[in-house]
Amino acid sequence: MKIIRTKDYGEMSRRAAGILAAQVILKPDSVLGLATGSTPEGLYRELAEMYERGELDFSDIHTVNLDEYRGISTDNDQSYRFFMQKHLFSKVNIRPECTFVPNGEEADAEKACAAHEAVIKKLGGIDIQLLGIGNNGHIGFNEPGTEFVNETHCVALTESTIAANARFFASVSEVPKEAYTMGIGTIMRAKKILLVANGEQKAEALYRTCCGPVTPEVPASVLQLHPNVTVVADEAALSKMV
Ligand code: GLP
Repeated sequence: MKIIRTKDYGEMSRRAAGILAAQVILKPDSVLGLATGSTPEGLYRELAEMYERGELDFSDIHTVNLDEYRGISTDNDQSYRFFMQKHLFSKVNIRPECTFVPNGEEADAEKACAAHEAVIKKLGGIDIQLLGIGNNGHIGFNEPGTEFVNETHCVALTESTIAANARFFASVSEVPKEAYTMGIGTIMRAKKILLVANGEQKAEALYRTCCGPVTPEVPASVLQLHPNVTVVADEAALSKMV
């Protein structure tokens, strides 16, 4: 696991964007695994600016997203499809039909999850998977305490995740209670992993991810077993590491 320590959020965003940009330049038909949340917003802004300057071309890129709320429509501004559209897809020359987010409008969970997993397989797997991390160490929506699940599946969100994500909704009661998420296996099959984290509220989770035992209690700890992981985090998020 390679850890890149940055001064602040801006530097974290630039360094992480540089890694994704290198992937796009070196392999223009890459499959990018993407993530939502407030952490990657800055790096998507950086990528959009590089595209504007003519430094990046997304015309042969495919993307697959980590997760999506179950029972949310794509035009709901809290859906992850909406987030991706707003922060990246509408800003670069990616072909809409080459972007895949789990289908939150599909009520049949098995169908939605199998379809997402099938897309990833059909594309030949993920070249680089971007990850944020939940305050409780979750990745995607793989919550603590459950076994490591192999494939995309439906999960019940924990109270702490619902509370953490309530900031994006009008009230906590509006936060969906379930989500479709890539499994730990899906994530681990990506050739490379790029995890971004900022802020003190992530320090404990990041410390346990990098330095603690590998356990389903801290889902991100499984990344210790992946051969190609880069963590880009600011000083605050790394404050519990020496
Ligand atoms: C959500 C997402 C995760 C994300 C996490 C952290 O629960 N499912 O993919 O990493 O939130 O979000 P933030 O970056 O806003 O702290």
